[in-house]
Amino acid sequence: MKKFLDILSEEMGKAFATAGYGAELGRVTVSNRPDLCEYQCNGAMAGAKQYKKPPFVIAGDVQKALEGSKVFDKVDVVAPGFLNLNVSRELLKDYLNEMAGDNKFGVEAPEKVKKIIIDYGGPNVAKPLHVGHLRSAVIGESVKRISRYMGHDVIGDIHLGDWGLQMGLIIAELKLRQPELVYFDSDFTGEYPAEAPFTISELEEIYPTASGKSKEDPAFKEEAMNCTFKLQNGDRGYRALWKHILSVSVTDLKKNYEKLNVDFDLWKGESDVHDVIPDMVADMKAGGFAYESDGALVVDVKEETDTKEIPPCMILKSDGAALYNTTDLATIRERMKEYKPDEIIYVVDKRQDLYFEQVFRCARKTGLVGDETSLKFLGFGTMNGKDGKPFKTRQGGVMRLEHLIADINEEMLKKILTGREMEEAEAKETSQIVALSALKYGDLSNQASKDYVFDIDRFTSFEGDTGPYLLYTVVRIKSILKKYEESCGAADKLLCNAYTNDSEKNLMMQLTLFNSMMEGAFEEIAPHRVCAYLYDLANAFNSFYHETKILAEEDSAKKQGWIALLSLTKDVAETCMDVLGFSAPERM
Ligand code: ARG
Repeated sequence: MKKFLDILSEEMGKAFATAGYGAELGRVTVSNRPDLCEYQCNGAMAGAKQYKKPPFVIAGDVQKALEGSKVFDKVDVVAPGFLNLNVSRELLKDYLNEMAGDNKFGVEAPEKVKKIIIDYGGPNVAKPLHVGHLRSAVIGESVKRISRYMGHDVIGDIHLGDWGLQMGLIIAELKLRQPELVYFDSDFTGEYPAEAPFTISELEEIYPTASGKSKEDPAFKEEAMNCTFKLQNGDRGYRALWKHILSVSVTDLKKNYEKLNVDFDLWKGESDVHDVIPDMVADMKAGGFAYESDGALVVDVKEETDTKEIPPCMILKSDGAALYNTTDLATIRERMKEYKPDEIIYVVDKRQDLYFEQVFRCARKTGLVGDETSLKFLGFGTMNGKDGKPFKTRQGGVMRLEHLIADINEEMLKKILTGREMEEAEAKETSQIVALSALKYGDLSNQASKDYVFDIDRFTSFEGDTGPYLLYTVVRIKSILKKYEESCGAADKLLCNAYTNDSEKNLMMQLTLFNSMMEGAFEEIAPHRVCAYLYDLANAFNSFYHETKILAEEDSAKKQGWIALLSLTKDVAETCMDVLGFSAPERM
């Protein structure tokens, strides 16, 4: 479907052309003075210089050309040359009914379907998820869903941190505690046990202990590095142990991401590219890109136009070990080979932006990616506490994601149980659904790159710009629709009427913006645009609802029209929620 504003702009453009002016002057926008008109066009002002005529005259000519227009009900010329417009009630109604009959509410399939890989989540194996991982998961999931909704071919890849020193630390610690384990017996040639020699809770205790120890005990650190080296170079026992760490940890991660309604198509990690690193390094050397500097292997990535210093990208350390860079570059290489993506989007803490700048430049310079593929970095800001500092537990430690989720669930349950009659079990289930919206909307409604304050009281409030408010609005619509259905049977979704009052008109106008909003959110990689739209939609609906006795209406055609309008509002709102990664319960 054409975008509503494009329909208006085309009509306006035609009128400019009929009156002897350039059609491109006919761009129509939503009015910034809704008290005066619905839409406006400032083209007469823009054309004044070119046509050497006062804007007022141009606007008058255009107004004449619009006489009898089926698109505009009213065209006013206002000094110095604004065109103030009201759209035809019929056209607005027809557009909504067409939207209601379209399975994507007016979003058209893309001209070219892009293959897009989204790299998000990025947890580190064997380390518990903490609040820092929340944003990548929540934002990345939404970016994935928006891109998919727009009709693109999208792959979400978690890119596990599963190959670095943390693995060596765990192995070294296990070796101290249980030296008798068969994994440490270098003469062992049989099959290793299928069961891991530890549980997830043990693992979660082992890592911080080992990490703390390595900071105080240089010999232990040395041993951990040694273990990492042996693991990476194929020690059978260490690899078998590593597989256990991975599988125990991934099982736990899956559970946690599921609670967040986040899922990945690929569970690849840094380890997956280990074997292709030597090949990549050889190519970089052969191409004359990589050279030795202080024993390390580096690629220069600075450019003449740089205003700040961009250091070289280090490919191998002086001991020959691979780095975070190396695995990221090798991952790009593999992704290009296997998927030939048009775009790779990284959703990572914005403090890594210089790092990604280096990696992207290096990937282009060394020919890992060509011009047809774009590499994008969506850097997100920090989640802060009310004190404006990075969010911490009450004791001042790093907050585990599980605990954060438990806290918000508990707060939500309290609110749901106040003033409502609901069975404990239903209240619990409902509060989890609502709490997820509180958490995700609280995050996504901010522009990703900005820091924000995690405010549990505000996020869980049923009023204001919050997830629960939006859910509440949808639940309200569902309840009206249900009541209608009980007394009048199923409603025809395609029977919106022409509006009879302002609040109804505003709701209709807001609905028409859906396809262009979604396109913008996709192009700008901006879930916050979906949030802002959803909030405006909820407000428009609630004003209409408060002014209109819907179910008590006696004129059945009128009532049926409103029900159709509500039904479209609900479907559009739920679509927005779905791309944001949460949903509304049946009741709350
Ligand atoms: N594991 C990394 C960390 O915790 C994040 C990974 C981000 N993605 C990437 N391709 N580097 O910082």
